[in-house]
Amino acid sequence: MNEVSFSYEGKNFVVVGASSGIGKQIALELSKAGAKVLCIARRTELIEQMALQESPGKIIPMYADVTKTTPSDWDKFFENFTERFGKLNGGVYTAGVVGLTSLRAWNDRLAKNITDTSYTGMLHFMRSVTKKRFISDSSSFVILSSVAAYTGYKGLLIYSSIKAAVQTAVKSMARELACQGHRVNSISPGWLTDTEMTSIDKDIFSNREILASNIILGEGSTDKVSGMALFLLSNRADWITGTDIVVDGGMMLGGVFE
Ligand SMILES: NC(=O)c1ccc[n+]([C@@H]2O[C@H](COP(=O)([O-])OP(=O)(O)OC[C@H]3O[C@@H](n4cnc5c(N)ncnc54)[C@H](OP(=O)(O)O)[C@@H]3O)[C@@H](O)[C@H]2O)c1
Repeated sequence: MNEVSFSYEGKNFVVVGASSGIGKQIALELSKAGAKVLCIARRTELIEQMALQESPGKIIPMYADVTKTTPSDWDKFFENFTERFGKLNGGVYTAGVVGLTSLRAWNDRLAKNITDTSYTGMLHFMRSVTKKRFISDSSSFVILSSVAAYTGYKGLLIYSSIKAAVQTAVKSMARELACQGHRVNSISPGWLTDTEMTSIDKDIFSNREILASNIILGEGSTDKVSGMALFLLSNRADWITGTDIVVDGGMMLGGVFE
């Protein structure tokens, strides 16, 4: 049982990347706290399944490939949702992909995909969703960055750089949107073991024991990160904007024996 709970009855949120991992966990917790959640990803069948099993009527699935979605597509998603349910109170952007890139192991397609998914797609999302006709006053947005932005992991050249760019974009957007009372923050998780990103990419996350021994509070999971997202979306965080919150179990402190 969680000692801290949130009530989002009557509120509306959008989660991009809601079909798995951190996005799915946040969407589920928001819907269980009473919110209506517009859930965006390519695999809408997974979102439909989650809606049926966990939160009937609270989760609204929407197909989008964020690397191809145009500004007018984004507008249509939010027009459609707000006509049915009213304005949004905020959103979370978690869509992201990881892959090995370095100066010597370069891959143009992968570099573009990482950039388009985590960064360019996020900016297009923010440009559309923050239009006055789609959001209430004092809305809150959370974008997923990563500890890689701080450490610049070897072999994660593009991923790390793009996650750093996300943090800088968050600061700039926070300044721009503050006059309407909106807030924008990022969360930088450490290594979570229960998401597709870390279970599928065996090249990067092959040695689980070594990775785990570098985290003083042990392996992380999506429910260690979702609470921070729900907090940042709430009015208890109404003096927090333009910042990055690291949720990493002490991973950046170094290994247990260091
Ligand atoms: N897991 C970790 O250890 C970790 C650590 C630090 C930061 N992060 C960051 O946290 C975020 C979430 O990661 P996760 O671990 O939850 O990953 P995940 O389980 O792989 O989920 C990624 C989500 O992004 C969506 N997505 C990917 N490409 C997309 C596209 N082109 N269009 C629309 N949706 C797309 C996926 O949906 P579809 O495939 O259905 O489209 C999925 O819902 C990412 O930004 C990641 O970089 C994760």
